Amino acid sequence: MKINIAIDGPSAAGKSTIAKYLAKELNYSHLDTGAMYRCVAYKVLNMGICIEDEPKIIEVIKNTVIELKPDGSIYLDGKQVNDEIRTNEVSMGASNVSKLEKVREELVARQQEMAKSKGVIMDGRDIGTVVLKDAEVKIFLTASAEARALRRHKENIEKGIPSILEELTKEIEARDYQDSHREHSPLKKADDAIEVDSSNLTIAEVVNKIDEIVKQKLK
Ligand code: DC
Repeated sequence: MKINIAIDGPSAAGKSTIAKYLAKELNYSHLDTGAMYRCVAYKVLNMGICIEDEPKIIEVIKNTVIELKPDGSIYLDGKQVNDEIRTNEVSMGASNVSKLEKVREELVARQQEMAKSKGVIMDGRDIGTVVLKDAEVKIFLTASAEARALRRHKENIEKGIPSILEELTKEIEARDYQDSHREHSPLKKADDAIEVDSSNLTIAEVVNKIDEIVKQKLK
């Protein structure tokens, strides 16, 4: 039997990394919904459209193909955009477009379609509360803002992306605030989600912990 697994939590809590490893372990597909909001923001910013112009952005989304490939690469209208969508500007842009109700409706519908046949690990902010309310396993993955900023900083340095820890910390805190205080589908723990604090855990420890929760569910 295959189930769906929802992983929600604040930015840079390690959701995508954990989901990727877990997907390998369980032979499930990983769907990074944040990448979809990032693709929309990237396209809208490049087109010079105001990030709050909801009708125009909806029009753009209707003519946009976003593909989340099994190897983790992201394609926007046929072009690979893995790195382009990870800049600070696009991160904040994604948080801004994700406030728009109609934008969420469009992307949520696509996400629900992708998870129809089960065997999906989906990570985001509203997966357990909105997108996959009936997911069999729901995880709320957290870590302190300091731990998250430091992880992202190290990741950037490894990738050769310029990175200033203080700026990253501020950006992460600003996005946390915005994502959890917006009107539509704010980031919040679903009542039936299990909270995992990864501040002092390694990736392997978090993956094992969630793996145990999944195995328990499948028994
Ligand atoms: O997970 P991420 O950092 O790549 O997400 C980028 C932004 O997209 C995040 O600041 C909030 C938004 N987002 C959302 O509102 N709902 C989701 N399911 C996923 C991301």
